[in-house]
Amino acid sequence: MAKQYWIGDILVGSHDEEVVELCGWVHRTRGSNKIRFLVLRDSTGSLQCVIKKGAVDDECFDALSGALIESSVRVTGQVIRTDREHGYELSVSTGNVVGAVNPDSPFPITESAMAEADGGETEFLLDNRHLYLRTSRMTKMLKIRSTVFGAVHSYFRDRDFIEYQAPNFVAGAVEGGSTLFEVPYFGKKAYLTQSWQLYAEAAMPALERLYTIAPSFRAEKSRTRRHLTEFWHAEMEIAWGGNQEVMEHGEALVRSIAQSLVEEREDELSELGRDIDMIQKYADSKYPRMRYDEAVETLQSKGVEIEWGQDLDYSKEKILTQDFEVPHFLTHYPRVAKPFYHRPDPEDPKYVLCHDLLAPEGYGEIIGGGERTWSEKEILERIDEEGTPREPYEFYIDIRRYGGVPHGGFGMGIDRVCAWLSGADHIRETIPFPRDSRRVTP
Ligand code: 4AD
Ligand code: MG
Repeated sequence: MAKQYWIGDILVGSHDEEVVELCGWVHRTRGSNKIRFLVLRDSTGSLQCVIKKGAVDDECFDALSGALIESSVRVTGQVIRTDREHGYELSVSTGNVVGAVNPDSPFPITESAMAEADGGETEFLLDNRHLYLRTSRMTKMLKIRSTVFGAVHSYFRDRDFIEYQAPNFVAGAVEGGSTLFEVPYFGKKAYLTQSWQLYAEAAMPALERLYTIAPSFRAEKSRTRRHLTEFWHAEMEIAWGGNQEVMEHGEALVRSIAQSLVEEREDELSELGRDIDMIQKYADSKYPRMRYDEAVETLQSKGVEIEWGQDLDYSKEKILTQDFEVPHFLTHYPRVAKPFYHRPDPEDPKYVLCHDLLAPEGYGEIIGGGERTWSEKEILERIDEEGTPREPYEFYIDIRRYGGVPHGGFGMGIDRVCAWLSGADHIRETIPFPRDSRRVTP
């Protein structure tokens, strides 16, 4: 029996002339009633299989000739070098259809539906997301996403961070009440967490360097190009560190993600139209720091209406970052613009010691973080001035009553990083089953 290989193994040229078995899905077929050309796809690539009447038995010829697009098949044959599209083809000696497609309901994601879809944006493709996942564009996105997740784990684990899990059902907001998802909880109310942070701070005196990759939830009512209601959040927290140290980690993490993509996903990125030199630049450059006030002045000089004290929304970040060649940190936001946990700057308490990292090319915020308010007195002052009830945060205040230390951390939206580095128009393109205000299906 012939040995089974991935198509990718064949395409690198190490099985020339060998008789092999391949398993996959029918991507395209054409030909006559004497010779059929079947392009087979698996997760590693695609290859043309040539099925000649007479070279295979009639039953096999009829079965493979009749296989509809996206049927699964198993074929055996000899690997032949060609000067056609894939460089190799398979001269089939036998094969069969494993999972047939019913001719009454052919695979709905046709090339014309894709052409209209402009990057997966039509409702039709979103309704058929479970089938759209196997298209070449989504396959590339999912591989890029996997590399990004791997790079985040490697970055933190290589530096002795401990992976730590927080609950997803919580009693209070982290990032303000307006985007909280409320869930009935046995006669009481609970919320889906917006961030791992507050519970990570509880473990900060135990572990000192901790991180996670977990989903976070935000009831974002409007559908935008960069908001999901369920997104994947890489977060970290360190003891004995302030805004500067945390920013250094954020910069180094993003650079190492870009480097991993260049090393592992050059083909996928190029096929999506990304300029690899630009991604390499994101991996090699220092990321400049700019204060919030300077960003406001820059925006005002571009004619954007913005008042001091407002957080920057997407439309403003888009304008600000359009001319950036590399990501930039914005630091020292006004205290009124940020939640209670941000530490006021001792040198000028109108501001907090925080940062957002804004990706270039108009993508905007990918990281939010900073130094935490860490004494009991300061945290109570911040909670009260925000008008937030103390009760859900008693545990959080307690952490400051027993050996509080300076500490800080950040959260990075993984889906946003994937969108930026892959050049996607919309965050939805980067996640298998996107969730937004109008969609929890499929
Ligand atoms: O800036 P945010 O709200 O900060 C926090 O949640 C902090 N508690 C993090 C921390 O310090 N540990 O969110 C962090 C990042 C944003 O910069 C953005 O990249 C991403 O999370 N993000 C979203 N991504 C997709 N869809 C949404 N609705 C998002 N909201 C935030
Ligand atoms: Mg933010």
